[in-house]
Amino acid sequence: MANPFYGKDIVSVKDFGRSDFEYLFATVDKLNDITAEKHRHLLDGKILALLFFEASTRTRVSFEAAMIALGGSYIGFDQASSSSAEKGENLADTIKTMECYADVLVLRHPNEGAAKFASEVSTKPVINAGSGTEEHPTQAMLDLYTIIKEKGSIDSLNIAIVGDLKYGRTVYSLLYALAQFSPNLHLVSPPQLKIREEALYAVKSKVSISEHENLGDIMDKLDVLYVTRIQKERFPDPQEYEKVRGSYVIDNELLKKAKEDMIIMHPLPRIDEIHSEVDSTKHAKYFRQTYYGKIVREALLGLMLEKDFL
Ligand code: CP
Repeated sequence: MANPFYGKDIVSVKDFGRSDFEYLFATVDKLNDITAEKHRHLLDGKILALLFFEASTRTRVSFEAAMIALGGSYIGFDQASSSSAEKGENLADTIKTMECYADVLVLRHPNEGAAKFASEVSTKPVINAGSGTEEHPTQAMLDLYTIIKEKGSIDSLNIAIVGDLKYGRTVYSLLYALAQFSPNLHLVSPPQLKIREEALYAVKSKVSISEHENLGDIMDKLDVLYVTRIQKERFPDPQEYEKVRGSYVIDNELLKKAKEDMIIMHPLPRIDEIHSEVDSTKHAKYFRQTYYGKIVREALLGLMLEKDFL
């Protein structure tokens, strides 16, 4: 199979299929097998530009770490206020400027459609690192990789996605990506934060889906519990946030109902939805997931920038 990522934009997971994800994950595993010396020269001379108009810890820093690990380097800004957007420069001009200095651009932006727009303006490949409430495709790639590494496969698993299913962009990318496989999906949220209709409509003919309000009702059947943060910053009305804040809190009491080998994932950051006492249980895989984020992004950058990577 030819490298499906070479020169491509990563705007939506919907642009990729199961075989593309499997190609990526095989490359992650190959990267782990080569010598450290070879590893650190794979992207010698390549430059990544980070354009972050919204806060980030994991996505931004893991892209930086991935580029360094492969011998490349990175440039960019981590908030709009430190770029000339602060003076009124528009997004198109910012993209056209940054592509003069780099081989690939990573954009996080509060607006839906921003990544698609950037990919149309840029002659260099663009990676969507989060576009409003829309998508976060590389998060979904590392989420799939985590499930495969920790559970062996995705097909036939009972996977719950819990929390803010309305505004959480990681939820949408994960849902579209999981629909390429055959898990049983359980969507758990307060009524106000149910998955958006258009996404449900897009995937319901491809994958088994049930919706729930009470997590306790399905806890004993789950293989993967994917927890998300209630996205306070996306609520138009702070009083509406207060009504759903703390809707789900995973603690050791709740975990008494879980299967021995159920894993807990979270894209992070977490606020109060997973109690810190859970961190030391065998279920907690969210920091492992964070680590996988770096190696999946290494493989993705390599494949995007080198046709015959590995
Ligand atoms: N998961 C994720 O996108 O985290 P950051 O917001 O810290 O990048």
